[in-house]
Parts: sequence; structure tokens; C-alpha cells
Amino acid sequence: MAVIGKDIAHAAALLREGSLIGMPTETVYGLAGNALDESAIVKIFETKRRPRFDPLIAHIANEEALHSLVTHIPESALLLMRAFWPGPLTMLFPKQDHVPDILTSGLDTMAIRMPHHPTARALLEEIDFPLAAPSANPFGYVSPTTAQHVEDQLGSYIPYILDGGPSHIGVESTIVGFEGELTVVYRLGGLMLEDLKKVVTSVKFNVQEGSAPQAPGMLKSHYAPTKKLIIGNIKALVDEYSAQDIGILSFQQDYGLPAGRQIILSANGDLTEAARNLFAAMRKMDAWDIDVILTERFPTMGLGAAINDRLKRAAVR
Ligand code: TXA
Ligand code: MG
Repeated sequence: MAVIGKDIAHAAALLREGSLIGMPTETVYGLAGNALDESAIVKIFETKRRPRFDPLIAHIANEEALHSLVTHIPESALLLMRAFWPGPLTMLFPKQDHVPDILTSGLDTMAIRMPHHPTARALLEEIDFPLAAPSANPFGYVSPTTAQHVEDQLGSYIPYILDGGPSHIGVESTIVGFEGELTVVYRLGGLMLEDLKKVVTSVKFNVQEGSAPQAPGMLKSHYAPTKKLIIGNIKALVDEYSAQDIGILSFQQDYGLPAGRQIILSANGDLTEAARNLFAAMRKMDAWDIDVILTERFPTMGLGAAINDRLKRAAVR
């Protein structure tokens, strides 16, 4: 069992010793360790049971840290940084040689994010190295959005979980890279595409759908509960699966099932609220005594795009 607490100085001391901790961010909780310490990075891969070909994100406190890690900052990245950092946007930059290859799975680029969560920021200010922090879940499972979620799955492997309350956004950061000044979106996430496109006009999509990813980590099956999850017209699915014990995960409609059988993500149809509730709902339903989770396609606007992406990957097995 890990200790769950709010002691930033203690968390920083553990990180300086090379330990891992659970860290809150506005998107999801991270499993954090010193991004410049190879043995801490190895521990992250082992604790998550994450394949070494799937690179990690480095979290930083300020622009100064960015300059100490990368060799080049494209103009588009500068614009995005000014608009959205700190926040739910991760960007890929060519890395400096001193950044361990194991962090980036041997790639020349590294993923960097400046989180907005006040606890994460305070922690990053306390230390003088960036934090590697993938989502704090076993590889392939649903990401954690509370300290308790981290404790439930990784509590026996880490000494401390810094509690920053429930993650406010609830889905992982949007990831973009650059081809010249072209912005390439690799993962849909907490930064809405509508907002991104207000700042950079030249945008391309490379969100992997296939099962053999060309960019590491964009795996088709991911964010998945243990239970089978089916996406479609919920009403029709209820008929189709009438012989099984079903649970319903809906956007806003009430299908009349009792609590313990149905979760409505946002009764008044707010996609931002739905994203915030999504992963906790999937974890809850995974523990229910049901055979299958029936859900639906969300409107593809705002955070609906990221929600659909996560549901699609959760449905693959
Ligand atoms: O919101 C988030 O981004 C959370 C919080 C904790 O910050 N972190 C997170 O990390 O979602 P993780 O490790 O679960 O996802 C990182 C993704 C992976 O899919 C990885 O393949 C991709 O980032 N990535 C990292 N470095 C990359 C690189 N150089 N090129 C392409 N993809 C990269
Ligand atoms: Mg993850």
C-alpha cells in the first residue's frame, strides 16, 4: 500500500532519491520519476508492465526547462506553447543528447508537457529535473483520475501518491508533433481540436487506428476495461444483448435501469463533464456484476472526439 497525502516536499525528496510516486495532473494521474535518471525510467516501464517501445512524456515547470532538453522549437510549437501551456497539450521536439534514449524508446524526438494542475506545478518547481510520467495504470488499462485509482492498481509498487483531487479534464493530453511548420496530431485528448485550430491553421492527422502502430503507443487496443464494451445504438443493443446481464454507459439519456446498472456521463449533455466522468465510470462498471457494457458514439465536437477515441480503443480486444 502507498501512503496517499499532500506533502509536496516529501514527494520531491522521494523523487530525488530515484523513487517513483503517483502525481496528479489535470488530465489523468501520472506515475512519475526523474526523466533524466535511467534507473527511474526502467522502474516506470517495469511497474506499468509497459513495453519498452512505447516512449514516455517528460513534464516540465517552465520554458527554461524546455530549452535544456530540446534542440529546436518550431514556430508553430512556440505559438501553441504561448496559447496552451500550462495545459493538456503534449508536443514532440528533437531531443538533446543527454536525454536518455530509454525515455524516448530510441526515437530522436521527445514528448514534453507543462501541466496546469497546481500540485503538479508546485512539485515540478521543487525539483531541478523533468518528470517522466505515463498514466499511472497497468499498460493497456483505463487511466486513473483519482489518487485512489492509482492506489487500487499500483499502490503496492510505490511509496507515495500525491493527492490533488479528481482530475479536472479526465482524458489524457492531446499530442502533436511537427513536420516543418505543419502540426501533426498523434493523439486526440484534453485540448480540443477546435481550440488548436484557432492557433495553427496547417494541421494534419496521424491518429493511429490500425493494430500495427507506426508511431509507438498509438495502439489500437488501449484504455480498456476488462469487461466487453460495445458501441452502437444503445436501444438496439439492449434488445440484441437481452440474454446477458448488461450495463449501460450513456452520454445523457436515462434508459431506466437502476443505479448499479447504468451510468449517465452528463445528464445535461455537457461533453466536458462527460470526459471528466468517463474513466471513473469505466472502472466502476468493470467491478459490477455484469457481462457487457453497452455504450454509444458521442457527438464529435469538443471533448467528444477524445471520448470516442477512448471508447473505440476500449472496445477492441
Ligand atoms: O495527459 C497525459 O498525457 C498523461 C499525464 C500523466 O500527463 N500522460 C500520458 O502518458 O498519457 P502515456 O505514457 O500514458 O501516453 C504517452 C503517449 C504514448 O502513447 C507514447 O507513445 C506517446 O505519448 N509518445 C511519447 N513520446 C513520443 C514520441 N517521441 N513520438 C511519438 N509518440 C510519443
Ligand atoms: Mg497511458
